Amino acid sequence: MTKNRHALPCERLCVIGLGLIGASFAQGIKNHALQKPHAALAKQIVAVDTSQDSITDGVMSGLLDAGSTDVYEGVAGADVIVIAVPVQALAGVLGEIKRAMDAGKLAKECIISDVSSTKQSVLEAARGVFGQVPPTFVPAHPIAGAENSGFHARNPELFCHHKVIICPHERTDDVALNTVQTLWQTLGADVIFMDSARHDEILAYTSHLPHLLAFALTEQLAGHDDNLDIFRYAAGGFRDFSRIAASHPVMWHDIFMANKQALLTALDAYQAQLTRAKQMIQAHDTSINAQSEPLLQWLATARHARRHFGHMLAGKPKTSLSNQDDTMSQSYYIQPQHDISGVISVPGDKSISHRSIMFGSLADGVTRVSGFLQGEDALATLQAFSDMGVKIERTGDQVVIHGVGIDGLSTPKNPLYMGNSGTSMRLLAGILSAQKFDSVMTGDVSLSKRPMERVAVPLRQMGAKIQSTGEKGTAPLSITGNQTLNAIHYELPVASAQIKSCLILAALWAQGETVIVEPEVSRDHTERMLNAFGYPVVSSGREIRVTGGGRLSACDIIVPADISSAAFFMVLAAIGGGEGLTIQKVGMNPTRTGVIDILRLMGADITVSNETVVGGEPIADITVRPSDLQGIDIPEHLVPLAIDEFPVLFVAASCATGTTRLTGAKELRVKESDRIAVMADGLSALGVDCTVLEDGIIINGKGVAGTRNAVFGGGEIESHHDHRIAMSFAVASARAADEIVIHGTETVATSFPNFADLANRVGLKIDVK
Ligand code: S3P
Repeated sequence: MTKNRHALPCERLCVIGLGLIGASFAQGIKNHALQKPHAALAKQIVAVDTSQDSITDGVMSGLLDAGSTDVYEGVAGADVIVIAVPVQALAGVLGEIKRAMDAGKLAKECIISDVSSTKQSVLEAARGVFGQVPPTFVPAHPIAGAENSGFHARNPELFCHHKVIICPHERTDDVALNTVQTLWQTLGADVIFMDSARHDEILAYTSHLPHLLAFALTEQLAGHDDNLDIFRYAAGGFRDFSRIAASHPVMWHDIFMANKQALLTALDAYQAQLTRAKQMIQAHDTSINAQSEPLLQWLATARHARRHFGHMLAGKPKTSLSNQDDTMSQSYYIQPQHDISGVISVPGDKSISHRSIMFGSLADGVTRVSGFLQGEDALATLQAFSDMGVKIERTGDQVVIHGVGIDGLSTPKNPLYMGNSGTSMRLLAGILSAQKFDSVMTGDVSLSKRPMERVAVPLRQMGAKIQSTGEKGTAPLSITGNQTLNAIHYELPVASAQIKSCLILAALWAQGETVIVEPEVSRDHTERMLNAFGYPVVSSGREIRVTGGGRLSACDIIVPADISSAAFFMVLAAIGGGEGLTIQKVGMNPTRTGVIDILRLMGADITVSNETVVGGEPIADITVRPSDLQGIDIPEHLVPLAIDEFPVLFVAASCATGTTRLTGAKELRVKESDRIAVMADGLSALGVDCTVLEDGIIINGKGVAGTRNAVFGGGEIESHHDHRIAMSFAVASARAADEIVIHGTETVATSFPNFADLANRVGLKIDVK
């Protein structure tokens, strides 16, 4: 495409069809000319419409310089024509345009565009009329609409921030293309280019099929004997789903016919989904009062995908505070309950789940993962690798990854959306810096505030081209591919497994041996798992060495239960009454067990049993009984080993006798939220006295030895998009005097989707709304 060469301003712009789209387009161009006369795109705007009233109104209102109800007459002298008529009427309009050209009323070089929802049929029509598609014909499709239609519903802002898809054909003229692109961009539209077949296929799934289904559902209810009652009591679901069935029947008839093949394919795929749903419902034995796992999985996968795509499409990060966000904010309403007992299992380890997808994708061969965490964070990593062309099959917590090899990732079509997950973004920064292609990573409100220069700085030293494009060195991260990476010797300024892992991953592609030195030992799952995949990573003390240029071989991975999720139940059992809890088969990697050490120092009664090693990671059952806790000074060397468990440890400290002092934990300020400030606010709101330090906190415990006294009052807490804040205050309810309400609990699904169910099973009383 030739940049900047277009045919604007044109002498005479003719809009054919003054319905919502055509009239809004004309009004947008007119308003632009009124606001910026020196930059006007058309000297005259004329129109053709079957309604004389619309033409008259258009002229009277000053929008149009002239108009006609006849195409042949109306197009005379135009140098740009935009056709905004129903698809089936398009061929007739093109025929009249050709007649006007043949009669010398219209220049043969006149640029013609359209706005139809199907594009192959439009090209076909042009071929039928002109013999071959004229180079000056530029098919376009604005993806915009409104509840009301017609000339009087016109809105010059209708296309602002909406997509307009332009489908160039093999003979498209550059000047014509640039002209049409500039017209739409002037109206604030986001222009994208696409092949016409691809356009029709995508629109069949995203627009035509949903409209057909809305008509079908409404038809089904209308045909029902009690249809009046059904419609009268129809709830929001029906109303939302069927809204588009109020659209124009002729228009949709035409679209369905014009895009017949692609729509039939989409319908077949949908029918297969319905059959599957029917089978899952039929197959389930309701008499045993258990859940249907396959159905739950199916629903959960769809929900996750909807949320993921919702955030992507909205072009804005997920936020529980935004009313416009269709993911909605969720809250926990928790009544005090003191007795806690049971034997439970918690979901798979988040850190290991992330890494299993990353390394499985980069390996040669097929990797099978069991116990995979079905939380949104790990699923964001899974989605990112699917977006880079890796075939990944998931049935519940079983995942099969068809590795593409160390150089096999392909260019993602869109920015990779990492949701709430810092691990995904930071580790992927290392991988993406070494790829041949450019990439962009975005995240939700919380992730978009977290520091990314901590990985970008050393990656740049290795030769990566990486830009933190948000404010203050934050996401979105933009990475330029095709760089040569070199090994470095890097001393980490903070003990962070995410920075360490990011650099180890980049080092796989770097020339030479990379040496990383940590100030304190942090979790070592990357090192362990790479060795399991046959890639040597040598650790000695705080030093890690890895040499680039090797390959990974697929292996099977069993993900142990996440000790960070178990920690909520460990504290719950320690501060609650009742018999206490046993949490089974929890990962006991020594770089993660700081929470057990700290709770024991506080006097918690913890027994570790059934210790064994599974898939290179130690696991064990952990039993915690109600305990009288005492305040302590937390040893600083334990901080990296319990880095994710401090929010719930603060709840434990509140229930202890005496004072607990944490220092050397500045890192807590840059987690999913500022966990020192947010926990201090929440604890104060519930009546616990604490003092915030720059790198920690002092908590004056309110526990009374030998009792299970109420430590917390009732109150409202905001999670600040942080799953661990939400779960920690839920645990506090075991020692609360009154109801605790926690807002923004949808983030719990990032790491522990069944938390509330499990907590209720062992004795808490959480109502999720
Ligand atoms: C993680 C490392 C930790 C931890 C995070 C997961 C990982 O972050 O807080 O939840 O999987 O590597 P830092 O390494 O930045 O402390």
